[in-house]
Amino acid sequence: MDYNNIFFKINTSLNKIKDHGKVASYIPELNNIDPNKFGVHLTTLNNEHYSIGDSNEKFSIQSIAKVLALTLAYKMKGEKLWKRIDVEPSGTSFNSLVQLEYNHGIPRNPLINAGAIVICDILISNLENPKKDFLEFIRELSGNKTLNFSSKTAESEKITGFTNMALVNLMKSFNNIKNDIDVVMDFYFNLCSIEMTCKELSRTFLFLTNDGIDPITNNKILSESKSKRINAIMLLCGFYDEAGEFAFKVGLPGKSGVGGGIVAIHPNKYSIAVWSPRLNKKGNSQKGMNFLEKFTTKTQSSIF
Ligand code: DON
Repeated sequence: MDYNNIFFKINTSLNKIKDHGKVASYIPELNNIDPNKFGVHLTTLNNEHYSIGDSNEKFSIQSIAKVLALTLAYKMKGEKLWKRIDVEPSGTSFNSLVQLEYNHGIPRNPLINAGAIVICDILISNLENPKKDFLEFIRELSGNKTLNFSSKTAESEKITGFTNMALVNLMKSFNNIKNDIDVVMDFYFNLCSIEMTCKELSRTFLFLTNDGIDPITNNKILSESKSKRINAIMLLCGFYDEAGEFAFKVGLPGKSGVGGGIVAIHPNKYSIAVWSPRLNKKGNSQKGMNFLEKFTTKTQSSIF
């Protein structure tokens, strides 16, 4: 398939439409990004590469990293994980507090902020050097030993993270947070600050296209069943109150971040990462979603 040519045609048609999206401004550091950046990288199961635009420029992957934290926690704790987090779509915004009270501190799923914060708590309880060990895990997955957190972005989010602090406090009051809340939130803010290029992102997620086995190194990251379940969670919960819309228009499991990145998985075929910082009202990349909708339509590669 001539993906590069398809990328070019879709980009040309999208450039004719005005993008009304807005860069995330509630994390001051993200507000400094050029809103017109745009990159795409697709990696196939056979390690073929296709790209367009700023696909080799690093950006803040934000909530996309929640899938990687979930992967490590699921690998370590197995099905016990689901005693502390549910697997239901939330239908609410990523940082919503409303369901948490009547669900007695059990987050609806691991990809909303509340769920990812519980995952951070679990990793802290189970890793010797949580931040260092987590970095090692994603460096291995990405094949890039220099991947890192951005202390600037993590600090910037810490200063304005009042809603996230409310979430962690509420869960602590229900005894669903075991560690010191400042330690948990330091891990969470650093998790969200990880920077990757589209190329690194699509490579990192390749194990989810291949039943949990990294097709490049042959390392078993997850069992087939766990890998399928992570894809299911991404399909149902990867875009918060826009998960239905993404399944409806794009038809792939995926995950977005407020840095403007989206990664999507076609099981047994490819992993694709898109970056465009202008976000729609639900906090997902406007052009990224439009691009993926056109891409899966043209290539007939939605999973449905
Ligand atoms: O907790 C936050 O607000 C951010 N660190 C992550 C939010 C995010 O990326 C939501 N995604 N679409």
